[in-house]
This record gives sequence, C-alpha cells and structure tokens, in this order.
Amino acid sequence: MMALRQEAVPRPAATNVIATLLEKRTGQQLQANRAWRIDSTLTPVLQARGLPDFDALALALAQGRDGALADAVIEALLNHETSFFRDPGVLEQALSALAARDRPIRIWSAGCATGQEPLSLAMLFAERGVPVEIHATDVSSAAIARARAGRYSQFEVQRGLPIGRLVRWFEPTGDDWCVRADLNERIRYRRHNLAGDPVLPGGFDMILCRNVLMYFGLPMRRRVLDGLSDALRPGGLVLLGAGETVIGQSERLAPCREWRGFYAVV
Ligand SMILES: C[S@@+](CC[C@H](N)C(=O)[O-])C[C@H]1O[C@@H](n2cnc3c(N)ncnc32)[C@H](O)[C@@H]1O
Repeated sequence: MMALRQEAVPRPAATNVIATLLEKRTGQQLQANRAWRIDSTLTPVLQARGLPDFDALALALAQGRDGALADAVIEALLNHETSFFRDPGVLEQALSALAARDRPIRIWSAGCATGQEPLSLAMLFAERGVPVEIHATDVSSAAIARARAGRYSQFEVQRGLPIGRLVRWFEPTGDDWCVRADLNERIRYRRHNLAGDPVLPGGFDMILCRNVLMYFGLPMRRRVLDGLSDALRPGGLVLLGAGETVIGQSERLAPCREWRGFYAVV
C-alpha cells in the first residue's frame, strides 16, 4: 500500500471537486466550516485506494471513470448520526397524533440512517397495538444494508434504548444485539435519494425527515419540502429534527396548531 504523503491535506481545488460531487449526488453542501470532514473521513479511502494525496483523489473523481471510488467517497462523507428514541417526547406525540385515525397508518422515515428511528416508531406502535406500515429510506446503500440487517452494537443499544425494550425486542448475538424478525419485518427499507428521486408513492400520514435537510442549500430544501408535502395524505404531518423548521423554506407547509413541532399542508 502506498504511504500517504505528510502534506496530504485537502487543498481548495480538491475540496471543491469533492464538495461538488457530494452536492450533485446527495444535495448535501460541505460548507467551509465542515471541510475538515474531508480530511478525517476520506483519509481511509485514500489509504485503501493507494492514492498519495487528495489531489490524486480529486483528479480520479474529476475523470469520472471510477464509479466505485465516487460511491466510496460519498458513503464516507455522509453523516449517519442517530440513536434509538431520539427526542422521545416528539415520537410519543407522533403516536398520539396518529393512533386515533380510523385507517391503516402509513409512515415514511426519510433519511433513516441505520434504522434506529423507524425501529423506535415500530416499537412504540407495536406496544400500543396500533397497526402501522413504515417505509424507511436513505441515500446511503451501506446505511440501508445495516438497517435491514438489524444488528446493533452494545454502544448503539445503550444510546436511547430502555433496557425493557432491549430485552423485549432484541436478541443477544455474539457481542451485539439483533432486532427480532417480527419487528424488523414491519419496516420496508429501500435506498432513496431525497435530492433526486420521486417521492415514495401511496400517500403518508406522517413523514419524518429529521436532521437530514440541515446541510442542504435553501433551494434544494424548498424542493424537498414541497415534494414531501405532495407525498402526504390529507391531514398528514411532517416532522423535522429539533431546531429545524419549514419557516422561510416552504410555502406549502406550516406549523400544525394541534401538534407542536409538526408541520401540515397549508
Ligand atoms: C444525521 S442522520 C439522521 C438520521 C435520523 N433521521 C435521525 O434523526 O436520527 C442523516 C441521514 O440522512 C441521510 N441523507 C443525506 N442526504 C440524503 C438524501 N439526499 N436523501 C436521503 N437521505 C439522505 C444520510 O445518509 C444520513 O443517514
């Protein structure tokens, strides 16, 4: 394996090639204050490919002949930070908002990362005996593969999963925990790019798109939010991450009066 050169830090031209690729493929912008991620996340890609520095990586990407390299770069740059029962109060509210509906409930977890968000919903609804169809998507094939596998480390289950639920819904497997098949089977996972693919068909009572749009530019955020509003059934709700809002980003969605933190079609 070729050794990395000491001065192998990304220069502006290389940063530009990598950031342009990321935005084109995922809508995510790599602002100047996040450019450090290139160094920290792509150094293993350089090493695995035997590339001496980021200029060589940028050149290979700009030539566009190595699709697998571009995929590896995108996968490495995506941030899959998530946890079970992230903002638990708001998930309980989601259940309350939907449980009384007199039709089969359909939920879309968009940008589901490694599955902790849809699994948290699946547990909540199953424990209340409320039937629900959950679709969960992410632009990252690696994240979707992990979510489908439903296998989590001790560290991951310790983040947000109460012990009672761990014991009820997971089985110890080596050092890890595997989600029970009857829970995992309730979630339909698939790869989907919010920045390019048509919205999922069929209409949803709720779409969660939490902590995904924050790195999108305003025009893309607007386009995605408009698309999500088209994917809602009448009375459907959108849920964003804590600290995210539609205000100033969509004329089609507005804060819901009845359910704080949720957004409804205007
Ligand atoms: C920070 S995680 C949030 C996970 C989860 N929603 C939560 O709040 O815990 C953001 C996820 O959005 C995904 N993502 C980024 N751009 C996307 C896009 N264009 N389409 C779909 N998913 C995307 C990333 O791969 C990542 O898994």
